[in-house]
Amino acid sequence: MDTPINFTVNGKIRTVTTDPSRSLLEVLREDLQLTGTKFGCGEGQCRACTVLLNGESVASCLTAIGDVDQQAVVTIEGLAEGDKLHPVQAAFLAEGAFQCGYCTAGMIMGVAGILKKNPHVSGAEIISQLQKHLCRCGSYAKYEKGIHRAVAQNGKAHA
Ligand code: FES
Ligand code: FES
Repeated sequence: MDTPINFTVNGKIRTVTTDPSRSLLEVLREDLQLTGTKFGCGEGQCRACTVLLNGESVASCLTAIGDVDQQAVVTIEGLAEGDKLHPVQAAFLAEGAFQCGYCTAGMIMGVAGILKKNPHVSGAEIISQLQKHLCRCGSYAKYEKGIHRAVAQNGKAHA
C-alpha cells in the first residue's frame, strides 16, 4: 500500500507517497530525477548506487524507501557546497580518477562517507574498505591516486 514517506535529500525536505518496499535508488532516480546515483547490479554487489544515509555510506539499491522515513540522504548532487567541490570530488578530478564515470559517483560517496566518519583514516585503509566498489573499466590505479590526494587534502584541512 502506498505510504507517505518524508525525508531530506541534499538538505531539502521531500515527500514521496509510494510502496515502502521500493528501493531508495529507484525513488531517487525515477521519482526525484536524481540520476547521478547509478544503477549497476541492483543487488548489493557493485556499490555504484552508494549514497550517504545519516552520514554513513549505504547501497541505495538495498535500502527500502520505507526505512528512510525521517532520515537524511545525501547524493552526489548534494556533495558540493555551491560552486565548491567536495574535497573528494576535487581530488578525483585533479587525478582524472575515472574513465567512463559510471562507478565514480558511488566511489566518491563511499570515500566521502569513510572520511566523514574518520577524518584521520589512511588512504590504504579507505582502499581496503572500498573492496565492494567495482569499476568495470578497471580504473583502480587512478582511483587510488585520487583517494591518496583526498586524504592528503583532508589531513591539511584537519591539521
Ligand atoms: S546497484 Fe547497488 S550495489 Fe550495485
Ligand atoms: S570508470 Fe567506468 S565503470 Fe568505473
